[in-house]
Amino acid sequence: MFKKLLSYFGSDVAIDLGTANTIVYVKGRGVILNEPSMVALALEKGGYGKRIIAVGHDAKTMLGKTPGQIDVIRPMKDGVIADFTVTEQMIKYFIKKLSSSKKFFSIPPTIVICVPCGSTQVERRAIKDSALAAGARRVELIEEAMAAALGAGLPVAAASASMVVDIGGGTTEVGIISLGGLVYANSIKIAGDKVDEIISNYIRTKHGLLIGETTSEEIKKQIGSAHITTDKGEMTIRGRSAYQGLPKEITINSTELREALKDTFDQMIAAIRHALEVTPPELSADLIENGLTLTGGGALLRGLDVLINEETGLKVNVADEPLLCVAKGCGVALDFLNDNRLYLNRIK
Ligand SMILES: Nc1ncnc2c1ncn2[C@@H]1O[C@H](COP(=O)(O)OP(=O)(O)O)[C@@H](O)[C@H]1O
Ligand SMILES: [Mg+2]
Repeated sequence: MFKKLLSYFGSDVAIDLGTANTIVYVKGRGVILNEPSMVALALEKGGYGKRIIAVGHDAKTMLGKTPGQIDVIRPMKDGVIADFTVTEQMIKYFIKKLSSSKKFFSIPPTIVICVPCGSTQVERRAIKDSALAAGARRVELIEEAMAAALGAGLPVAAASASMVVDIGGGTTEVGIISLGGLVYANSIKIAGDKVDEIISNYIRTKHGLLIGETTSEEIKKQIGSAHITTDKGEMTIRGRSAYQGLPKEITINSTELREALKDTFDQMIAAIRHALEVTPPELSADLIENGLTLTGGGALLRGLDVLINEETGLKVNVADEPLLCVAKGCGVALDFLNDNRLYLNRIK
């Protein structure tokens, strides 16, 4: 799966195979690739098999605009590799793209890849095997919540608890870390994609307008708000009337969206609450002091930090560059590979 990758990078590599975005980080170079985890497939003539016609940004621009024989898919949906063949092809494509702009050397690298806390042993093994089969010198897997914490610069090795909540596209990962290990980790399938889905359902049922995924994500970014103090006014949107079938324009506001999304936010908060409830008391005391840190694209949702603070009483920090935390954290882990630290050896 990673064959091509290995011949282009002599340096060690960190990969965040996210449900929404794939990010590649190379030691000494930083983030060198950041593209949507999306692939556009076309049906071969005669209807047998499918052929890739676009990947990453190019595939995302096609989303919702494709004719019948073309499909845009997200092979990593829900936080696991749902479609191995397509995932493999997607990675190959990204690598080819990199190799045309810069040359790297070819000593077998060490690769750190993050896996969602909820992934099964079989899924973890499959990711590891494909990287090894491609000739990596060594492959280490790291839990997504741990990578997020490392990337956000939290003091994971300290004898004091840190809490991280990584809100991606498919999953929200909640982790509590102390002394270099995850004391608690959980993953729920409620995250950015769910928010988009609720927005489009709401606009269809309330305003009779059909919109695509790209539009609902745009609405979320422009006027999405989780707290009354961060409401962002109105937005005019276009789509197709659910009744007449004709193009139509409507105006929606931040407040109505916030109300429609209340249940979704509540579910995220319930996951955080559950983590707090099962945390040993000594660590709870630390969390009052340290608060929790939000990472992942969902951390950028306006007012989510305020809402979580209100509902849990904890201080909430939004990490710098939340979208890059996991990739950077895998990169940090590269530096500690020989230390036998807990956070790398937890996953076999
Ligand atoms: N400014 C923003 N406001 C709200 N949500 C955002 C913003 N930017 C990105 N997102 C959302 O973040 C999610 C992607 O986050 P990311 O951490 O890359 O996910 P993953 O790790 O699953 O690939 C998407 O649902 C996207 O819509
Ligand atoms: Mg992620």
